[in-house]
Amino acid sequence: MRIGIPTTVILTLAVASAVYAAPAAPTHHLEKRGWLLDKMKDAFAKAVKSLECGACVTALVVAKDISYLNKNWVLDAAAGMCTDFKVMPKDVCHGLVYSQGPVLINSVRQASLLSGDGKYICHQVLGACAPQGVQSGIVSFPKPKPAFVVAPTHSGNIVDILHLSDWHVDDKYAPGAEADCNRPLCCRKYADSPLTPKRKASSWGDYKCDSPVKLGVDLLKFVPKVANVSFSILTGDVPPHDIWLQNRESVIREEDAAYKTMAEGLPTKLYPTVGNHEAGPTNLFPTKASGGDIQWLYDSLADDWSRWLPADAVNSVKNYGAYTVSPAPGFRIISMNNNFCYTLNFYLYAERKDYDPMGELKWLVAQLQAAEDAGERVWIIGHVGPSQTDCLQNWSALYYQVVQRYSPHVIAEQFFGHTHYDEFAISYGPGAKNAQNAISTSWIGPSVTPYTDINPGFRIYKVDTKSWNVFDSETYIADMNQAATWDATNTSPNWHLEYSARKAYGAHVPIAADKPLSPGWWHNVTSAFETNSAAFQDYWTYRGKSANRLPACTAANGCAKETICNLRAGKSSDSCSEIHFSVKRDLNNDTEAADPTGLHTLYKRADPKPWNKKLCGLGAQFNL
Ligand SMILES: *[C@@H]1O[C@H](CO)[C@@H](O)[C@H](O)[C@H]1NC(C)=O
Ligand SMILES: *[C@@H]1O[C@H](CO)[C@@H](O)[C@H](O)[C@H]1NC(C)=O
Ligand SMILES: *[C@@H]1O[C@H](CO)[C@@H](O)[C@H](O)[C@H]1NC(C)=O
Ligand SMILES: *[C@@H]1O[C@H](CO)[C@@H](O)[C@H](O)[C@H]1NC(C)=O
Ligand SMILES: *[C@@H]1O[C@H](CO)[C@@H](O)[C@H](O)[C@H]1NC(C)=O
Repeated sequence: MRIGIPTTVILTLAVASAVYAAPAAPTHHLEKRGWLLDKMKDAFAKAVKSLECGACVTALVVAKDISYLNKNWVLDAAAGMCTDFKVMPKDVCHGLVYSQGPVLINSVRQASLLSGDGKYICHQVLGACAPQGVQSGIVSFPKPKPAFVVAPTHSGNIVDILHLSDWHVDDKYAPGAEADCNRPLCCRKYADSPLTPKRKASSWGDYKCDSPVKLGVDLLKFVPKVANVSFSILTGDVPPHDIWLQNRESVIREEDAAYKTMAEGLPTKLYPTVGNHEAGPTNLFPTKASGGDIQWLYDSLADDWSRWLPADAVNSVKNYGAYTVSPAPGFRIISMNNNFCYTLNFYLYAERKDYDPMGELKWLVAQLQAAEDAGERVWIIGHVGPSQTDCLQNWSALYYQVVQRYSPHVIAEQFFGHTHYDEFAISYGPGAKNAQNAISTSWIGPSVTPYTDINPGFRIYKVDTKSWNVFDSETYIADMNQAATWDATNTSPNWHLEYSARKAYGAHVPIAADKPLSPGWWHNVTSAFETNSAAFQDYWTYRGKSANRLPACTAANGCAKETICNLRAGKSSDSCSEIHFSVKRDLNNDTEAADPTGLHTLYKRADPKPWNKKLCGLGAQFNL
C-alpha cells in the first residue's frame, strides 16, 4: 500500500492506551516488560483506529505512567510499532523515536495532562482534540501606540535585496542514487539502496531530494546577473531532511560548510535566522523550564554568522539565537528564533503556560520600542511564520498584538520561510479584515530546496531606502524537471524570472508607480482571487514555484476558500486549515484484506486534504 503517516502520530500514539489495570499483571521484572510492551502495542492499534481526543490524552497518560517504570519501554514499544506498521524503514523509525521520543516523554512528565495540557498537546501536535481557545492575555507595552501614526514617505531610491529561504543543502547527495526511495530523503546511497534505481538522481537535484551543494553554488553565481544586491536575508533551515539521523555533530558540520559556501558566493552581508532544522536532533530547542542543552548550537551559529554580524549581535545570538542589527541608518532588522512557537518543538510542552519561555517577545517589544523612539523602520525576519498552523496559537496571538502595536509606522515588512512554498500573509489592525485596516505583510518563502515537488528558487525585492517597503518582489526559479537534460548537455540550471508580483497581480489590482506593494494592496489581491479564478490559479502555480506538481486547488474542492482565508490570517488561530494527520491512502487498494494492520479505518477517518501538505519538520509526510 502507498501510505504515509506523520512521525508525530507514531511518537504520540505509539504509546497509546494500554489497559493498565488488567488483572494478574506479572510481577517479575522481565515478564512485566513483555506484558506492558504487548499491551502498549495492542492499545496503539486501537487508539490509531479511533483517533479521538480522549484516546490521545489517554495515550499520553499511559505513556507518562509507564515511563516512570522505565522510559525505554515506551521508546522500545514506539519504535517496534513504527517498524511493524511498515510506514518507514526500521532505521528511520529507530532514529526518530530514540532522538525525539525522550524529549516528548520528559515534557509529558512535566505536563498536567488531565488539567488541559493533554488536550492542548493533542490539538497542537496531532489535531486530535478541538483547539483549546486562545487566552493569550494582554501584552504590556512600555508606551501606548501614538494616536496618529503614519508610515514614512518613500525616497524613490530603490535597492535590491536577496531573500533566501530553506537552503537545505545535502552534502551527502549522490548523483545516480535512487531518487524515488522509501525514506523521507532520497538521492543518497543507503545500505539497502537498489543497485538499479527506478529513477536516477541527476547531478543538479530532484523533486524528492534536498539541494546538492552545486545547486546552491550555481544559484548564488546567477544572482548578480539579475540584481545588484545590497544585502541578503536567509529565513532559516540549512541542514537536509535526514531528520532521523541529525545530531549535534552533523548539524554543526553542515552549518559550517553551508555558511562558508554562502560567504564565498555572496558579495554582500547575509542576515540569517534560526530554523527548526538548525537543531540536532531536529526541532528540539530547550527552554528554561524544560532543561536540556543547546548552547553548543547558539555558539556555533554565532561563530558562523560573525562574518556578517557586528559584535553585539553575535553576543545576542549566543543567548538564544535572536539578534538585531542596523544595516543602514534609520533601518533595523530583528531576527527572531521562532522555534519557541513551533508545535513540534516538544520541549515547549513541558510548561505550556509559559507562553514566552525565553522572554523573546518581551525582548522583541523592547527592540521595537527603541526603534519607535529612534524613528527607525524595522524588518522582522524569522523561520516559522506566526500565520502558520505549526506556530502555537497562544504565542502567535501575543505576537500579533505586538505587530498591531508597532505597525505600520515601525514594522515595515516581515519575512518568514518554513513552508517551502511561495506564500504571504496579511495582518490587520483591531476590527475588520479589509484593505483600509491591513497593516503588515508577511512574505513567506520561497525555498532554495526543491523538496518536495517544487522548483528551487530565490527572491529579489525592490525596496525603498527610506520607507524600507517593498515595491516589487521578483521570484526566480529553475525547472527541476529539466535536470536530466542539464546533465546530458553539460549545461547548468535554467534560472529565470518566474514572475514579478507587481506585474502579475497588478494586472488585477492596479497600483500607482510611486506606491509599494502594501498590505492593503495585498488584501485587494486576495479579493481578486475570490472573484477571478484565473488570478487565483496564477497564485497557486506560483505557490508551487511553477513546478505544477501540487494537487488541484479549486473552488469546487474547497481549497481556494481555505487558501484565501489563510492569506488573511496573520495569526495561526485565524487559519482556516486544520491541524491534521495527512494520512494518505491508495484509493485503488483499500480493502481490509489487503491491509493486515487495520489502518484502513484511520485512512477513512482522516479524510486528508491533499493541498495541505507540510514539507518541513517532523510533520513532513512520508508517501511510501
Ligand atoms: C529499562 O529497559 C531497558 C530495555 O528496555 C533495559 O536495558 C534497562 O536495564 C531498564 N532499566 C531499568 C532501570 O530497569
Ligand atoms: C496563554 O497565555 C496565558 C498567559 O498570558 C495563559 O494564562 C494561558 O493559559 C495560555 N493559554 C494556553 C492555551 O496555554
Ligand atoms: C548593477 O549596477 C550597475 C551599475 O549601475 C549596472 O551597470 C548593472 O546593469 C546593474 N546590474 C543589474 C543586474 O541590475
Ligand atoms: C483596495 O480596494 C478598495 C476598494 O476597491 C480601494 O478603495 C482601495 O484604494 C484599494 N487599495 C489598494 C491599496 O489597492
Ligand atoms: C494491494 O496491497 C497488497 C497488500 O499490501 C499488495 O500485496 C498488492 O500488491 C497491492 N495491489 C496493488 C494493485 O497495488
